[in-house]
Amino acid sequence: MEKHGNTYDQIFRRRSFHLFKGGSDRLSEAELSALDAFLKTLRPLHPEIKTLVRVVPARETTCMRGAEYCILFYSEKKGDYLRNAGYMGEQADLYLNSVGIGALWYGMGKPRAKTAEGLDYVIMIAIAKVPADSFRRDLSQTKRKDVPAIWSGDGLGVSDIVRYAPSACNLQPWFVENDGSGLKVFRIWPAKRGIMPAGKVNFFNRMDIGIFLLILETCLEHEGLKYGRQLFEDTSDERLERVQVAYYRLDKSPAQL
Ligand SMILES: Cc1cc2nc3c(=O)[nH]c(=O)nc-3n(C[C@H](O)[C@H](O)[C@H](O)COP(=O)(O)O)c2cc1C
Repeated sequence: MEKHGNTYDQIFRRRSFHLFKGGSDRLSEAELSALDAFLKTLRPLHPEIKTLVRVVPARETTCMRGAEYCILFYSEKKGDYLRNAGYMGEQADLYLNSVGIGALWYGMGKPRAKTAEGLDYVIMIAIAKVPADSFRRDLSQTKRKDVPAIWSGDGLGVSDIVRYAPSACNLQPWFVENDGSGLKVFRIWPAKRGIMPAGKVNFFNRMDIGIFLLILETCLEHEGLKYGRQLFEDTSDERLERVQVAYYRLDKSPAQL
């Protein structure tokens, strides 16, 4: 199984396979067992929240996008379980791209098994073998907000990269303020919500924030920037224009002191 670059490189390579075009290639036993092994290494954002990840044939779900399997995320429904699932799932998304497996975060999907070992279904990622040349090659074709719409203050070499984090309906509900000592990360209510029903915004945008934090940390680590992370609870069901979800205190390198 060929590996294409490191985790950071996948931010540039990954894309959603909204439709897996019926190739005959199936995932091999080796690929499936490597995936299983990888899924066991997923790092939670909130270790106190119980989770379970299962890979099932796509026919055991409502996913009709031509995927072969779906990765199902189950969780205790408490606290920040949505961003926890987003943070864990994005690690899987980046891994899948690195080993040539196409992936689609699929919020519309429902699995046959709504619970597993007492935990509730949260989200799925549909997967299938895809041609090696079908990953993203040209970021300029990728629709995302411009940097000033998602970041203020020094971009630290990461502001132009984190904006490529995926999000449900591509709403990109995040904003980062670099105050000189650290990064304040906000979840923001999207100005336009496309086809997403208003009642689903909090649900998906919280998951998106988990995805964004994983991408942000991957970028900070790639730049050699050390940080201390402080997470703030984001569980209100109200329509909040802007809620601070995290603070990343940046440790100054000796050269900056
Ligand atoms: C939590 C989440 C749920 C999503 N649900 C769906 C979905 O139900 N159907 C779909 O076609 N795409 C879905 N997507 C994919 C997004 O539309 C896609 O990530 C976004 O448009 C950015 O495009 P890209 O992933 O190709 O960079 C979802 C993405 C996320 C992060």
